[in-house]
Parts: sequence; structure tokens; C-alpha cells
Amino acid sequence: MASRIALITGANSGIGFAIAKELAAAPEGFHVLLAGRTLSKVESAISEIETSGHGANGLTALELDVTNQTSIQTAASAVKQKFGRLDVLINNAGIENRDTDLVTKFHETFATNVLGPVLVSAAFRSLLLASPAPYSVYIGSVTSSLTSIVNPDSYLRTTTAGTNAYRASKTALNMIAMHEQLEVKDTPLKVRIMCPGFVVSNLRGTSEEARSGGGRAGDPASSARLLLSILRGERDGDAQGLITTSGVCPW
Ligand SMILES: NC(=O)c1ccc[n+]([C@@H]2O[C@H](COP(=O)([O-])OP(=O)(O)OC[C@H]3O[C@@H](n4cnc5c(N)ncnc54)[C@H](OP(=O)(O)O)[C@@H]3O)[C@@H](O)[C@H]2O)c1
Repeated sequence: MASRIALITGANSGIGFAIAKELAAAPEGFHVLLAGRTLSKVESAISEIETSGHGANGLTALELDVTNQTSIQTAASAVKQKFGRLDVLINNAGIENRDTDLVTKFHETFATNVLGPVLVSAAFRSLLLASPAPYSVYIGSVTSSLTSIVNPDSYLRTTTAGTNAYRASKTALNMIAMHEQLEVKDTPLKVRIMCPGFVVSNLRGTSEEARSGGGRAGDPASSARLLLSILRGERDGDAQGLITTSGVCPW
């Protein structure tokens, strides 16, 4: 019997998938709800975890497009009906849209990376509050840091082609997370935001060069271990910062 129910958005790929694998193998006994906008991709991800011999406490596929309010509400109703609560919500789904059309780039990026997590968190809030020790974790990015972009010595003082929408969306997400933390301060719900590090995924594109960030990107398993350490309370001292594997990134 699973002792904790965890839902990950965008769980079929990259960091979300690495987190799903980590939780499925963790001794806490997580039942992992892998959410994604394409059910067949989520089902393949589940098969891969099962083949690796993990997921004994349950793996459930959930269709959830974070830009579609009906899809979010349907997923929340399904979780309510099946489990009656949620112990961990991980707002992971995200995009880095570099469309040359500014309206398209900003609309799509903010719809997925900012409004998406806002709507998902709102839809699952009552289920999280039905848990005795719930966590709401947002996957942010150190590229959001305003302190770093004005620091002449920071490697984050860059303006790589078209990443302004992505970086601004993650800056907004920092506020969403800290705002939620304040909203629920009188409840058991712990809200955290973490940067997974620069790791291999489909975020920058699906070619091998893009996935590996030109060979510089790390293993998303390290992001998943960071997430698990947060859920174990090991980073509670960093609750009011953007948590990274090596410390806290200035806002
Ligand atoms: N990789 C890095 O170096 C890095 C660094 C800092 C932060 N991050 C953050 O980490 C998170 C995960 O990204 P990733 O790097 O693992 O990239 P990824 O491999 O592209 O994974 C992103 C996931 O989000 C899903 N997604 C996108 N739009 C969605 C929508 N509308 N509804 C539901 N799911 C949606 C994708 O689904 P599809 O497969 O259907 O597209 C995919 O499962 C993102 O928030 C990203 O900003 C990544």
C-alpha cells in the first residue's frame, strides 16, 4: 500500500521522468501519478519504469495539459475520486519557446510556465490540504535570477537568442511559489521552488546536440535526487529561496 501519492506534470520526459523514476524507487513507497498532455507518451514512460523493476507502489497515467482548464479539472476530479487526497504536487511541465513571433513566444511560454502551474495548484489545493504532510514543489530555474542578470561577474548575464520569455516566465514563477507559501502559511502545506540544474532533456530541442546542451548538460537523475531531498525535509532550511543542488540562488 503506497504511503504517499505524488503527481508530476510533464512526467513523460526529461526531469519529470527522472523524478517519476526516483520516486517510484524510493523507500517511502510513493504511488506516482505521471501526468502528461499525450497519454501514449505517459504510458511509454510508465512501461519503462516498470521494466526497470520499480513502481511496485503504483504508477498511474493521467492526461493533463497544463494550458487547458478542462483537462486540469478532469485530472483533479479523477485524483479526488481514486485517492481522495494528494501528498505531493510537482509543477514540472515547461517549455522554452523561441518563436520569432513575439506574441506567440510570450503567450505560449507564459501560458505553460506561469498560468499552467497557477491553475494546476488551484485545482489540486483542496486535495493537498487533505494530506497530513503535503508538499507543493515548483520546478524553476536559476536563469530567473534578477540578482544574477545585473551581476557583471555572473555566467547568467547572457542574452542568448530569444530566451527572454523563458527567463521572465521563471521569474514570475518564483513569485507564484512564494505567494503560495504565504497563502498557506497557516496550513501543513509546504511550498518549495527548486532549480534542477542544466541537465539533458527535450527543453532546448530533440536533436542530440540540443538535448545534451552541446555535451555540457548533466544527468536529470541529480535533479530528481534534489527533489527527493526536499520531500524528505532535508532542505527545509532553504524554504524561502530558489533551491539548487549546491545551495540557494539569489532571487
Ligand atoms: N533541462 C534543464 O536544463 C532545465 C533547467 C532549468 C529548469 N528546467 C525546467 O525543468 C522543467 C522540465 O523540463 P525538461 O528540461 O525536463 O524538458 P522536457 O524534456 O521538454 O520536459 C518538459 C515536459 O513538459 C511537458 N509539457 C510541455 N507543455 C505541456 C503542457 N501544455 N501540458 C502538460 N505538459 C507539458 C512536456 O510534454 P511533451 O513531451 O508532450 O512535450 C514534457 O513532458 C521545466 O519547467 C523546465 O523549465 C529545465
